[in-house]
Amino acid sequence: MQTGINRAWVMASRPDGEPTAENFAIDESPIPEPEHGDVLVRTLFMSLDPYMRGRMRSGPSYATPLQPGDVMTGEVVARVEQSRSPMFRVGDTVRSNIGWQEWAAVPAHTVKLVDPELAPISTAVGVLGMPGLTAYFGLLEVCQPRAGDTLVVSAASGAVGGVVGQIGSINGCFVIGIAGSDEKCSYVVNELGFNAAINYKTQNVSEELARLSPAGVDAYFDNVGGTILDAVMDNLADSARIAICGQISQYNAVEVPQGPRNIGSLLRTRSTARGFLVYDFERRHEIGRARLAAWIKEGRLKYREDIVDGFENAPEEFIGLLRGKNFGKLLIKVSD
Ligand SMILES: NC(=O)c1ccc[n+]([C@@H]2O[C@H](COP(=O)([O-])OP(=O)(O)OC[C@H]3O[C@@H](n4cnc5c(N)ncnc54)[C@H](OP(=O)(O)O)[C@@H]3O)[C@@H](O)[C@H]2O)c1
Repeated sequence: MQTGINRAWVMASRPDGEPTAENFAIDESPIPEPEHGDVLVRTLFMSLDPYMRGRMRSGPSYATPLQPGDVMTGEVVARVEQSRSPMFRVGDTVRSNIGWQEWAAVPAHTVKLVDPELAPISTAVGVLGMPGLTAYFGLLEVCQPRAGDTLVVSAASGAVGGVVGQIGSINGCFVIGIAGSDEKCSYVVNELGFNAAINYKTQNVSEELARLSPAGVDAYFDNVGGTILDAVMDNLADSARIAICGQISQYNAVEVPQGPRNIGSLLRTRSTARGFLVYDFERRHEIGRARLAAWIKEGRLKYREDIVDGFENAPEEFIGLLRGKNFGKLLIKVSD
């Protein structure tokens, strides 16, 4: 039996606009005892992701919203500390949707084994986890990149965007990243091998796209929505494909934004915009994971992690993520 205290971050209240520290609270309880068929897991790395802001809303969504007092949603990389199931042994590394907490007892069938031989275990919730698979399936299935295409991706230095651009390069695309600082732009070009990058905070995105790709944009992987989406829509090539992956520029919006304003460009260019969720491709996730792992081993796919030490820092880092503070996949290191 494991004695001690489990800490969990709960949603104390719903944010109105940008979340603040007051929207989060730590809840303490005894470390739970696993029942027959359960495993007791201890969090090593906690993943912080933009979709969690959506769970804090009460409006319509593809997932059930959190209620005040609920543990913040999320996936962790964890170690099995006790097992009452033949499926796992003590010491196994797993990933589990236990949310923002240090310990949990969960049914073994809800937990997935992590193979530490593939890559460092933190990647199980990053490049080899949900964000990497989002990039893989969203790009290949929705954007359908072809050699010679101009591919544009926003939030380009992030967990999803960085992988999108590199898979675009592997497929022979001319890749343009859009990001929020010169440092991030320089990283995607010089480290990840993108062909060009646009700093949307200091440059005119529409003018830069027209200059970099006069024949237009064939594929756009949209992580942000808003005015950046407008700018790309103004520069579409004929029969372009837009993957609506995320709308992070709108996540803290208090009112539903109007638009899209220039949807006529889809008509003019006979283009397609399609929303998707990573879970739409769940049956093929293992194929995608194996492919991503192989590219990492071959040195063709790089990734960057932004690892912050300390469970207590989660709300502040999450608020920062929605402002662009993170540089790469944001993780909280909870224990060794
Ligand atoms: N459809 C799906 O199944 C699925 C799955 C996973 C993720 N997503 C979506 O994919 C997107 C990227 O997720 P991620 O995990 O890779 O996050 P991330 O890129 O690692 O981090 C978020 C980044 O978004 C950018 N950003 C923040 N506010 C912005 C704004 N107002 N305008 C433009 N950019 C802004 C910031 O980068 P800059 O400094 O460059 O602005 C920030 O670093 C999110 O929209 C997320 O919701 C969708």
